[in-house]
Amino acid sequence: FFSLDLRELASSYEYDDEQQTLNSKIVIRFSHVAAENSPKGRAARRFADLVHERTNGKVSVEVYPNSILYHDQNQWQALKEGKVEMIAPTTSKVAQHIPSFQVLDLPYAFPNHEAVDEAYKGEIGQALLEDLEKEHVKGLTFWHNGYKQITNNKLPLGTPEDFYRLHFRTMPSPVLESQFQAVHASTSTLPFNKTYENLEVEFINGQENTISNIYTKKFYEVQDYLTLSNHGYLGYVVIVNEDFWDGLSPEILDAINQALSETTEWVRRHSIEINDQHMRNLRRLNQMTIQTLSPIQRAEWKQAFKPVYKETEERIGEELMDKIYKLQD
Ligand code: LMR
Repeated sequence: FFSLDLRELASSYEYDDEQQTLNSKIVIRFSHVAAENSPKGRAARRFADLVHERTNGKVSVEVYPNSILYHDQNQWQALKEGKVEMIAPTTSKVAQHIPSFQVLDLPYAFPNHEAVDEAYKGEIGQALLEDLEKEHVKGLTFWHNGYKQITNNKLPLGTPEDFYRLHFRTMPSPVLESQFQAVHASTSTLPFNKTYENLEVEFINGQENTISNIYTKKFYEVQDYLTLSNHGYLGYVVIVNEDFWDGLSPEILDAINQALSETTEWVRRHSIEINDQHMRNLRRLNQMTIQTLSPIQRAEWKQAFKPVYKETEERIGEELMDKIYKLQD
């Protein structure tokens, strides 16, 4: 009921073309699924403040966090239909609509944060943003969160064999399914806002996510083990409704773009520190057994995930794959 009320509230701010000519307020409804104190939640807030400042209050960004307006499965449609103007899904969630996005989900694709930066800012990022145009949405930039880790019940994960018979929640990306299949685990694709309850009733035994998401969504309350594996990277693509964007005046566009690039730079610099802080909080809470993969275990995981590269190449072609290999040199 709560989310229905908010939807009504949101539609009363419906954007229409005349608003701009009348010089009244332009509203950007920004829906996302993460917590307010996560890297994305904080970036969205910061972006809203900067837009207000740079446009002298002409443009107002209304942030709807925690899936209160739309969740993973319906936010894409809501954006296309103009029910919201902006979303920032994980790149993994875009992979179900645009296959090339799968490249960012490859296990151990990014040896360090610099490689992630290069993918986002360089040729890979550019190609992916262009691919969004095929879906008639406008991709603006990539926002960082962090490396994914694994939480689960039943047994601590060490070797790839430990995954056998476990059931994991994944985001909707074929690569993530392949990744768990490669170690003989099964998966269900579930929205982020349904993950906690499905862990609680043990429909799923585990999930992969960044430390900030594990901490802010309290997965530690329903999970026994945390394995620090850094086996994949989770980040976002900021997308706007194409008609809305095309209807903005050059001055307004300029101000929003400036606010956005400052926010992108902010989240790039602060995402590591936010995840580190949440890691310290998790250790203090002491609710899960926390372990780090040894170099040997890491090598075994990498080896076990190898078939995922071949399968992905069959789905998305060689060109992007080659670009990812180059980052690993
Ligand atoms: C998820 O697991 O769905 C998340 O990582 C969501 C998010 O937006 O961070």
